[in-house]
Amino acid sequence: MYHRHDVVIVGAGGAGLMAAAQLAHVADVAVVSKLHPSRSHTGAAQGGIGAALGNVEEDHWIWHMFDTVKGGDYIVDQDAAEVLSREAIDAVLELEHMGLPFNRTPDGKIDQRRFGGHTRNFGEAAVRRACFSSDRTGHMILHTLYQQAIKQQVTFFDEFQMLDLIITDDGVCNGVVTLEIATGEIHIFHAKAVIMATGGFGRAYKVTSNAMANTGDGAAIPFRRGIPLEDMEFFQFHPTGIYKLGILLTEGARGEGGILRNANGERFMERYAPTLKDLAPRDMVSRHIWQEIREGRGIDGSDFVHLDLTHLPPGVLHEKLPDITGFVMTYLGIDPAESLVPIQPTAHYAMGGLPTDIDGRVTIDADNTVMPGLYAAGEVACVSVHGANRLGTNSLVDLVVFGRRAGKHAAEMVKTTDLEPLPPEPDFRGRAEISNLFDRKTGENPSKIRAELQADMMDKASVFRTGETLEEMRVKLAELRDRYSKVAIQDHGKIFNTDLLEALELNCLLDVSEAIVEGAIARKESRGAHMREDYPDRDDEEWLNHTLAYRTSGGIQLKKKPVVLTRFEPKERKY
Ligand code: FUM
Repeated sequence: MYHRHDVVIVGAGGAGLMAAAQLAHVADVAVVSKLHPSRSHTGAAQGGIGAALGNVEEDHWIWHMFDTVKGGDYIVDQDAAEVLSREAIDAVLELEHMGLPFNRTPDGKIDQRRFGGHTRNFGEAAVRRACFSSDRTGHMILHTLYQQAIKQQVTFFDEFQMLDLIITDDGVCNGVVTLEIATGEIHIFHAKAVIMATGGFGRAYKVTSNAMANTGDGAAIPFRRGIPLEDMEFFQFHPTGIYKLGILLTEGARGEGGILRNANGERFMERYAPTLKDLAPRDMVSRHIWQEIREGRGIDGSDFVHLDLTHLPPGVLHEKLPDITGFVMTYLGIDPAESLVPIQPTAHYAMGGLPTDIDGRVTIDADNTVMPGLYAAGEVACVSVHGANRLGTNSLVDLVVFGRRAGKHAAEMVKTTDLEPLPPEPDFRGRAEISNLFDRKTGENPSKIRAELQADMMDKASVFRTGETLEEMRVKLAELRDRYSKVAIQDHGKIFNTDLLEALELNCLLDVSEAIVEGAIARKESRGAHMREDYPDRDDEEWLNHTLAYRTSGGIQLKKKPVVLTRFEPKERKY
């Protein structure tokens, strides 16, 4: 089936919907998503969206910018970080005006709480910068934006799996090929602009806060078509996932006064980050949790520590942290007001992704050459405001600020651009991928390959890495890739074929994992979330650069791309 629109947005989370809001009145826009929009992963973001409103304590956008740059271990593009922190303020107010129910101060302003790595006066002390709606801030943003999109009569195509990106011989992106999950039909969306807003790929790891759908399709598919992925070696582990399950327990819990304790009951983060303590940035807290565990101070000698919320004033859990209270009660059968909560770091956020400029245009080389017609925003993109380690709350800021900018830019672009004709047989790759899977009658089940991938990525390419573990992972990935080429799916039907979807998603997970591992092998230093135990120091001389990973016929090739430095010189990070 053929569809024609001015703009097609792939993904219906916060970034996609924010872009749609800019386009709905001026262009014919379609949002294509593999999930119903209200199931998008933005809805899982809990603790807050950072903006220097200064509602409860003095704050300034430049302090937010500094924290973002320092939090990212100085590999953040500072022009983008300035846009992020300046425009966060207006973006939050725009959300408020759309009706987002933020928690309020006694005098009726948007309330703000502490979050990891957010400081006052360039690192002096923690600051209350996270605007929040209890611990369901992402959920509220998602629903507010979805309501706006419905009001503006945006056209939605729900439960359509992306299969391919359409690129003309002249290198212009002018559409996407998708599979309608309900019917198994192939749909071609032909457009002047495509905005990728498909989220991340935490499902590459065994213990993750990410939804099942976060398999990196929107990064992997362009990657196969020659578009680079930037800074893939930087993958964030959030310190507080429920032990073994990975379910997120918001940093807002520590923002409200929660404390991490080891087997001795010690508040160990005081030793590592004397100023910010439990609210140090995530890369540091996750690393130190593992360090405590490795040194035998995990609870009962095991691989977890405790989040202590028992001392919080009455009412805080129910008024400000009701969702995580429910999660702990449901999944662990304990009441966090009375019992310590077992936690471990959980794969949470991809700092890397499709390289973009500050208007969301995808760029394809170290000179920032733009690919006409292709935009990206949100977690699938790398603008780069997160560098080597994203600050808590900045994912929501990123998707509203850069979703909005991508939407605005595309709205102008389509006014002056003609629709390029489609290349011949634009759907041949997508159809071939599916028939390949359908044609094979016997072979291994993809689920076993996925489980091995996730377990090994967790062991060999997570919080701590070495050249040796990464080389092992490289070999493992080659084996898994080979096994994937021979998999067979059991369901050969067309209607809601989840077997087929999982096989397609596994292919994407293999792609992004290969890019993570190749980037991590190449980067012989430790920076932010990339902790190479064999190269424990940051090396600005050699590595104050982004990496661009290209898929070529000879494997993945890496190039360096300069970091944009404007206001802040790289320094050693201390908290
Ligand atoms: O901890 C959290 O609430 C997560 C927020 C984020 O990833 O920004």
